[in-house]
Amino acid sequence: MLDDPRSVLSDMFAQPFTVAFLGAVLAHDFDTHRHLLHVGILSARVGAVAGLPPADVVRLGQAGLFHDVGKLHVRRSLLNATHTLSENEWRLLREHAERGAAMLLDRGAHAVASLVRSHHERLDGSGYPDGLRGLEISWETRLLAVVDAYDCMRSGRPYAAPVSHDEAIARLDAARRLYDPEAVAALVAALEGERAVAKGNWRTSLNW
Ligand SMILES: [Fe+2]
Repeated sequence: MLDDPRSVLSDMFAQPFTVAFLGAVLAHDFDTHRHLLHVGILSARVGAVAGLPPADVVRLGQAGLFHDVGKLHVRRSLLNATHTLSENEWRLLREHAERGAAMLLDRGAHAVASLVRSHHERLDGSGYPDGLRGLEISWETRLLAVVDAYDCMRSGRPYAAPVSHDEAIARLDAARRLYDPEAVAALVAALEGERAVAKGNWRTSLNW
């Protein structure tokens, strides 16, 4: 648990390029901007529930905020495509992980860049860009991947309708070849805290 969640949030947004990056994403594609905010906030919360030290919680939150910033280099019509993508279109889309990492490296945010580069890696080695497997993928990245997938399912995609919380968790649980079950458990615990907040349990709300 963290003593002061407010300082985590302010530290998450403290990088000087934060407004420029998020503003550019907002101008480029509203759904990507919304997704970044969702994943940033929820990643920090999940990291705190998982017991990460405060500095790592902030870094994970920043990785959530910026994980898809490389989509600035992907044309909007491709981001929102509903047709079956060609091999070349897939390649362009997948490049967002490396491009986002490069944007962060350019600004000296090396640790965040590493998480952003690997957020599409999967436990069985089927992810990209490096085909990492299992524990080659950092714990923070495994947490980020679960939060990213959860928000995509809950929000829906141009080609897929949104699903319920229970359905999203069931799909993550069923995909153990791809997602770390302990990371899924941390996500569930964090979201149970959110539900307590929604019911007015403010002690829980301050108990990151
Ligand atoms: Fe992504």
